[in-house]
Amino acid sequence: MRMYDLIIKKRNGETLLDEEIKFIIEGYTKGLIPDYQVSAFLMAIYFNGMNEEETVALTMAMAESGEQLDLSEITGIKADKHSTGGVGDKTSLILGPMVAALGIPVAKMSGRGLGHTGGTIDKLESIQGFNTALSKDEFINNVNNIKIAIAGQTTDIAPADKKLYALRDVTATVDNLSLIASSIMSKKIASGAEVIVLDVKTGNGAFMKNEEDAFKLAEAMVKIGNAVGRQTYAIISDMNQPLGRAVGNALEVIEAIQTLKGMGDKSLEALCIHLGSYMLKGVKHVETIEEGKQLLMKTIEDGSAIRKFKEFIKGQNGEEEVVDNVDLFPKAKFIESIHSVVEGFVNEIKTEQIGIATLILGGGRETKESDIDLSVGFIINKKIGDYVAEGESVGTIYANDRNKLEEAKEKFIKAYVIKKEQPKMNKLIKGYVTR
Ligand code: URA
Repeated sequence: MRMYDLIIKKRNGETLLDEEIKFIIEGYTKGLIPDYQVSAFLMAIYFNGMNEEETVALTMAMAESGEQLDLSEITGIKADKHSTGGVGDKTSLILGPMVAALGIPVAKMSGRGLGHTGGTIDKLESIQGFNTALSKDEFINNVNNIKIAIAGQTTDIAPADKKLYALRDVTATVDNLSLIASSIMSKKIASGAEVIVLDVKTGNGAFMKNEEDAFKLAEAMVKIGNAVGRQTYAIISDMNQPLGRAVGNALEVIEAIQTLKGMGDKSLEALCIHLGSYMLKGVKHVETIEEGKQLLMKTIEDGSAIRKFKEFIKGQNGEEEVVDNVDLFPKAKFIESIHSVVEGFVNEIKTEQIGIATLILGGGRETKESDIDLSVGFIINKKIGDYVAEGESVGTIYANDRNKLEEAKEKFIKAYVIKKEQPKMNKLIKGYVTR
């Protein structure tokens, strides 16, 4: 087989065979095929697409390019949840303990944040001592004993995807449906869970700005998962405003704690319960989504979810006292209210701009090597549909640097579109793809 012939085949719009895709992915991972040939191949996919079989073959070739976690030592059916990324998305920190409190093993590999969306691992590291670099044995032991572990993704999970993603990033070939779906699913499949629940975000703060594209991505990923024997569901949810009220690492963990105690934002709680109920259905703990929702709600009401969160922190060497005393989280030097200069209803929040404002404060990473300030961010006081009086607070900024504070504050206020008329309200959950 020659790479040159396979590039021609894809360039001419023909369908590649499983073994041809495997040859390309194996060759590229081992450094036998150069970047320039793979770049041409990616561009051919960009223009000619891939069919379902090719997309599944690409996913599996990438999943098999490195370590595949064998979670068979964990008793029970393992469920995982993945979000395509958004601003203020702390759902894993909430639904993980809720699902685990019902005895379902949650074995989650998470990433760090890059760009305007944060990563679960960074958020957890705002808890003093919390260890996200678990060995495989520690990870498995914790899931068996506590029912939940969240660890950083090791570099050996789907290394082909890592290499390809970096190449796509510089060759204008990121935004292709088959390439995105196979990239996300290869990592999920290699991470070992039998049930995968996907939260596909859509809106001005999401990767998929347009709802139709989000549904197409959800369909592609659900098809891949089910084709390789992983029960996969997708929920398409709104990202036209930050999720919940907090944006920024420590602030989001504090919000997760409040939510687990039943004192959180109701839309955030509703999304967690929705996603969690699909996990319960997937592992056959319940027959219906309604039943799942009721069970999960009960874990908040009876305190078992917050107790599980404490146990989870302790299990990964974190300071579990943070749950009862949020003063133990890293604190920003400057905390200021941001006031509206106009009166009216919040019609729109340019969510990506809020993410970028957090990045300016140091709460996110511009490059993989950047350090991150865990204490900075925003509390969103006004959301879409809320009335704002002139001079009223729309948000609170947490910063450690005066200049950055001024720049981020300006960005934050500009992200708000306030008008006299009331806006049309967006539904939080846009739909489901279950087959
Ligand atoms: N996230 C991924 O992991 N891969 C993509 O291609 C896009 C988003």
